[in-house]
Amino acid sequence: MRQATSPARSWTPMAATAPASSRARAMGNVLVTGISSGIGAALAQALLRRGHRVCGLSRRLPDAALAGHPSLHAISADLTDFALVAPAIRQLCDRAGIAGFDTVFANAGTFGPPPARAERVAAQDFMAVLALNAGGVKATLDACLSLPQRPRQVIASASISGQRQRAGMLSYATSKAALNALMMTYQIENPDIFFLPLGLCNVATPLGQVTIQAGPELPELYALRQRAGQPGYVVTPDERAAHILAVLDHARGLEPGRFREIRDLLKSIPDPLQQKVISDDQ
Ligand SMILES: NC(=O)c1ccc[n+]([C@@H]2O[C@H](COP(=O)([O-])OP(=O)(O)OC[C@H]3O[C@@H](n4cnc5c(N)ncnc54)[C@H](OP(=O)(O)O)[C@@H]3O)[C@@H](O)[C@H]2O)c1
Repeated sequence: MRQATSPARSWTPMAATAPASSRARAMGNVLVTGISSGIGAALAQALLRRGHRVCGLSRRLPDAALAGHPSLHAISADLTDFALVAPAIRQLCDRAGIAGFDTVFANAGTFGPPPARAERVAAQDFMAVLALNAGGVKATLDACLSLPQRPRQVIASASISGQRQRAGMLSYATSKAALNALMMTYQIENPDIFFLPLGLCNVATPLGQVTIQAGPELPELYALRQRAGQPGYVVTPDERAAHILAVLDHARGLEPGRFREIRDLLKSIPDPLQQKVISDDQ
């Protein structure tokens, strides 16, 4: 039986401790949930470009551009069908010929129906969001922890709404607060693994579009909707995927299990998009 001990007080992600020459490969075999769309699809693309073996699941399979890649293994699975998650993840490992994942991106998520005042949110819609954004992550983690090879790092697609609530975001904010608590609890119980709930904010995806479908009766989200039209306020999934990998390549001294906002972390590392422009120019 694994003993729960206090987690280390600071952690530097695997890639950031690797020599620059092997940094891109340091994340090893990777699982990405929510691979059919948005940030998950962009992350999978970016990881495949770096030469990783990527396994993914979502209810829809990835589109043809991604699905045809020889290092991608994808399975259709509903993460809220909890009993089927572990068999699906074992099947992915079998297909890929691996004993487990070095890196897990627990990314699949939903906003649920468009923003509405809390008392107008149906209880079943509220529970459906929790089922995926917290329950689906738990099912994913439990499945990965039961594989012969344990993960070394787990990154969850988190949100500032789990810490700073806004009118109109009851289900999503509650689910992302639960996600932060879940990640910290797994961290405390599994100090050999690095857990990072990473707030991803303002990405142009189907989920991001739903988030800003608010009228003037929800003033903060309505204002966000206006700001979202400004150039550069919302980033593309490809840009955010590059940001996430840059954080894992360069961030140092993170507190294990603690929520961090990607925009804060990006202030202290080299700008990945600037680097891309430079290398594209070469
Ligand atoms: N976009 C943003 O601004 C933003 C900001 C902060 C955090 N995030 C977080 O980032 C993550 C990815 O979101 P996104 O913006 O990329 O949204 P997205 O484009 O809507 O992608 C959501 C992904 O989750 C999958 N998914 C949904 N329900 C599922 C289920 N029951 N079982 C398995 N997979 C399921 C979807 O695939 P299927 O429909 O095929 O199942 C899809 O691949 C979410 O956790 C979200 O909360 C996003």
